[in-house]
Amino acid sequence: DIYNEESNEYSLLINQASNIAERFNYVKMITPILESTNLFVRSVGESSDIVNKEMYTFLDKGGRSLTLRPEVTAGIMRSIATNKLYANAELPLKYYYVGPCFRYERPQAGRYRQFHQFGIEAVGNPSAQLDAETISLGYLYLKSLKFSNVKVVINSLGDEETRINYRNALKQYFSQYIENMCEDCKRRFETNPLRILDCKVPEDNEIAKNAPKLSDFLSDNAREYFDKVLNLLKLFGIDNVVIDNSLVRGLDYYTGVVWEYHISSNDATDVGAIGGGGHYKNLLKEIGGPDLEGVGLAIGLERAHYLWSTLVKKEPVDNKLDFYIAPMGDNALEVGIKFATSLREKGYSVSIPYENKSLKSLLKSASKSNAKFAIIIGDEEINNDN
Ligand code: HAM
Repeated sequence: DIYNEESNEYSLLINQASNIAERFNYVKMITPILESTNLFVRSVGESSDIVNKEMYTFLDKGGRSLTLRPEVTAGIMRSIATNKLYANAELPLKYYYVGPCFRYERPQAGRYRQFHQFGIEAVGNPSAQLDAETISLGYLYLKSLKFSNVKVVINSLGDEETRINYRNALKQYFSQYIENMCEDCKRRFETNPLRILDCKVPEDNEIAKNAPKLSDFLSDNAREYFDKVLNLLKLFGIDNVVIDNSLVRGLDYYTGVVWEYHISSNDATDVGAIGGGGHYKNLLKEIGGPDLEGVGLAIGLERAHYLWSTLVKKEPVDNKLDFYIAPMGDNALEVGIKFATSLREKGYSVSIPYENKSLKSLLKSASKSNAKFAIIIGDEEINNDN
């Protein structure tokens, strides 16, 4: 439950997100929270922890397998494909979204089973500039919330050639250890050895530390593209970039550039990445759409809110009530109601009590309401036509 002052703060974070996305010419898209399970298996990927362990999946009364969305990118792609949004449209298509997502994770600081994401997806006309612009949108959003220490951690997963070579190298390396590794790693070894690098089991993690590095396998084309994006980041105003060759991200659809946003501070619990994103070459095609590449990102609003309220917030976010009308007596109430209606029609927010109260308690309520103005109406004012 998010309520009272905290819900005002969420509104602020969400309004600012929409505002920034619209500054980059993104339009809002709303997709269902429930999607066919198959959509996530095909997009987020069979080898990902999300699909394997974290989805809320059930059969509906018609026997169809449905899933509460663990992220939004897949739904946006499904919508682009089924509604043929690419036909006759100016590319790239640019959509943003805000809404709840669900992952069956162990609840802890910054990790919830229902959480909210703000995200964007740009599809069609891929370029290093569009990748850099996407990274800069998330950065600008976090900067606009007045975070002072936003860090972009970035890596490249390379192209097809890179991934085939790297996959083979990982298979060869892990084949000497896999027998003694956890069951998840054994499965990952078969489906996607890259995922072994994410393993949280300490002994497996030690083995993974000495695995071949992706950066040594980047093809010339992939390296050139990555360098181009890195150089462009400065042009887009991003000054705090860290290359991390071990960043692989937990979703299978990424190709090329991937990144995360981190906020570092000693006064806040480490809640993990505040957001992340990446380029995806084949996602739309794989779920039955046209062969268009995309790039996107998502920011976790709970994590953004926690860090914002711990590190940035100085004073309460007020409820912005404009007027508190305090009517004294029945005639005054009638006048007050008419006045409240006309103020609301003009766009002001107004609160008016309907029970009989003394002046003292009216003033007390007016002060509690936090309104910018209190309007006191008494019979005398009405009789004097004031
Ligand atoms: P993701 O990294 O899985 O990416 O999630 C994005 C953000 O959602 C995370 O950085 C985190 O802030 C938040 N988040 C994830 N899981 C939880 C949780 N259990 N509790 C609280 N917050 C959480 C994606 O979802 C991709 N769809 C991003 C993307 C868009 N890539 C391309 N386009």
